[in-house]
Amino acid sequence: MGKPEHKTEQQMSRRTFMKALTGGGILLAAGGLWGAVGKGVFSTGKGPAYKGWANWRPEETGDDSLLKSFIYPSILASNAHNTQPWLVKVEENELNLYADLSRNIGTMDPFYREMYISLGCFLENLHITAAAHGYILDESLYNGAFNEVHVGNVTMKPGKGAHPELYEAIPLRHTNRGAYTDKKVNLETLNKLSALKIANHDPEVIWWHEKADKENIGKLIDMATETIVNDPDQARDSHRWYRQNWDELQIHRDGTTLDATGNSFLIRAFGKMIPVSEQTANQYWYRATKDIQIPTASAFGSITIQDASDRRQLIETGRLWQRMHLWGTANGLAMQPMNQPNERIDRERQLGLAEAVASDYRKLLGHTGKESVFTFRIGYPEAEALPSPRRDIADVLL
Ligand SMILES: Cc1cc2nc3c(=O)[nH]c(=O)nc-3n(C[C@H](O)[C@H](O)[C@H](O)COP(=O)(O)O)c2cc1C
Repeated sequence: MGKPEHKTEQQMSRRTFMKALTGGGILLAAGGLWGAVGKGVFSTGKGPAYKGWANWRPEETGDDSLLKSFIYPSILASNAHNTQPWLVKVEENELNLYADLSRNIGTMDPFYREMYISLGCFLENLHITAAAHGYILDESLYNGAFNEVHVGNVTMKPGKGAHPELYEAIPLRHTNRGAYTDKKVNLETLNKLSALKIANHDPEVIWWHEKADKENIGKLIDMATETIVNDPDQARDSHRWYRQNWDELQIHRDGTTLDATGNSFLIRAFGKMIPVSEQTANQYWYRATKDIQIPTASAFGSITIQDASDRRQLIETGRLWQRMHLWGTANGLAMQPMNQPNERIDRERQLGLAEAVASDYRKLLGHTGKESVFTFRIGYPEAEALPSPRRDIADVLL
């Protein structure tokens, strides 16, 4: 398994922090060492919010129901704004999956596109986990109205189809929002990722890896991010899930966090100690997108489907993304969804605005006749991405 060369969080010790204090004294002024300890500066990846990443193997959970124990690795799936919008009911060998509509990100996801993709990510981890334990899942997805909560049903039966490499990558996969190195992801690797497409499922991947193509999609992501930051409703709805306060983070165990921003230890420490406004946080996000994430991407990709209003296809999109991200993790790649263009396309439709991002994006897709429902970047990591919080299993079980 390819591991990035980087400084680990352990190496970034109290000594490093003390050196920084001596050098600048900035953090000391912001509340001192005790303040830093209480605000989680030295506790990255620790506490109840993070225990799911260590306690994930079904056989170690002590759960009496095998299918229920498969939920532990499933909740580690990728999901929009770390809202973890899944609710699960398990009865013997049957699992029913529901969308938790209270966890929708409002104007950032008015048609639940990202919510249903997130549920697909959960389902993919469930399939991979079942396969690793000698089972296959019969899956029925329900294509109800977007706000209908019962999404799917799976039943478990003995069968083959294990992907041990993907299974072992489940607790190692994290969204990497930092800079990527100069090393290019070659075409062969991109093709291997495309080949993860699931048979009989609609979603497929297209890539932008040439300089000019990357510039075009990069410009669109930049423009969409700036527009979101300047749209008061979207800026507010996005920021609502940002957990800056360490105690709140440990209570809610969801949302986006400073540790997952891809920033250096010092910037994260500073951010934990000094509260920043919604506007500052969003401006920071925009700058990171424009100055770090877009320019260091080796390639951009998009998952396209025939019909963005088809809930089943959205769930299948999530299954493909999760599978790709696990494969990327197992092969030393860094990946990050960058759905700002898709979020603007939905917003244009919600408000009945003239198409801006929508028409530009269609041009980039060419004549595929399909719609993009998910955008991402890929590269090799400069530093390891850090985990984000997860809720307790009890919170998602009905
Ligand atoms: C549908 C969907 C949309 C997402 N959009 C973005 C995005 O636009 N920008 C981003 O940085 N991460 C995005 N993510 C990644 C999530 O924020 C991330 O999965 C979540 O915070 C949990 O963190 P983890 O992937 O490190 O476990 C998206 C994930 C999903 C499934």
